[in-house]
Amino acid sequence: MGMKGVVLAGGTGSRLFPLTKITNKHLLPVYDKPMIYYPIQTLVDAGIEDILIVTGGRNAGDFLRLLANGKEFGLTHLDYTYQEGEGGIAEALGLAHHFGNGNRLCVILGDNIIEGSIRAAVEDFRKQPSGAKILLKQVQDAERFGVADIAGGKILGIEEKPKKPKSDLAVTGIYLYDETVFDKVQRLKRSDRGEMEITDVNNAYIAEGTMTFAHLDGWWTDAGTFESLLRANNLVADTREHRGE
Ligand code: DAU
Repeated sequence: MGMKGVVLAGGTGSRLFPLTKITNKHLLPVYDKPMIYYPIQTLVDAGIEDILIVTGGRNAGDFLRLLANGKEFGLTHLDYTYQEGEGGIAEALGLAHHFGNGNRLCVILGDNIIEGSIRAAVEDFRKQPSGAKILLKQVQDAERFGVADIAGGKILGIEEKPKKPKSDLAVTGIYLYDETVFDKVQRLKRSDRGEMEITDVNNAYIAEGTMTFAHLDGWWTDAGTFESLLRANNLVADTREHRGE
């Protein structure tokens, strides 16, 4: 079985209101491209060409018009599905069950932008007999993210937006899963904020002893707040300038 890609671009982007009053967060500009171009390119650069876009909200049709069959990424086809409401990242992932069809998945959040490549992590995961793999990044504001508790080179657990983070290692929105991920999603209960949490899915793999992790090289940012959206724009612009593009 191969590896397929899923870009999660549902939700309403309420933290970016009024930028997201009329359009979907993942269609907003990040330097010279719509936000969703970056996670798609990350998957394509890692050799993943069978991709599902999970979208939602009132502007779902705009994704189809923007991306069509993915020609700009060298693709000949893209799959699309629709999330009603915003029940959480794990709920959005659950909609990929039919698409996944027994394959392994590389899941990326539609607002996660990286400088480097995930190809090495994807290749390592292909060799992993089963389970999942996450990518971690050292950050200064860990309380904004899922935070990994690591001891003796092992991952003990992940806490979602802890007030007192146990480390400065954020769990980035790039996840590698085997086909058992959908059983784990189905067993989830909603969190206090009423969402199906991806952190609970990851903790299910940790409890099973099948979670591995790697450290992501280069910068990483989300783009879901005014501050991080501005940072994303600046990081992309600076990187382009540095590369002489
Ligand atoms: O960026 C990494 C972080 O993303 C992780 O460290 C956290 O563990 C994880 O929970 C998530 O945190 P956020 O609170 O920043 O996630 P947010 O609600 O902003 O959603 C991120 C993306 O996930 C969003 O751009 C689209 C997708 N999403 C989200 C929700 C709530 C959906 O597709 N459907 C949804 O219902």
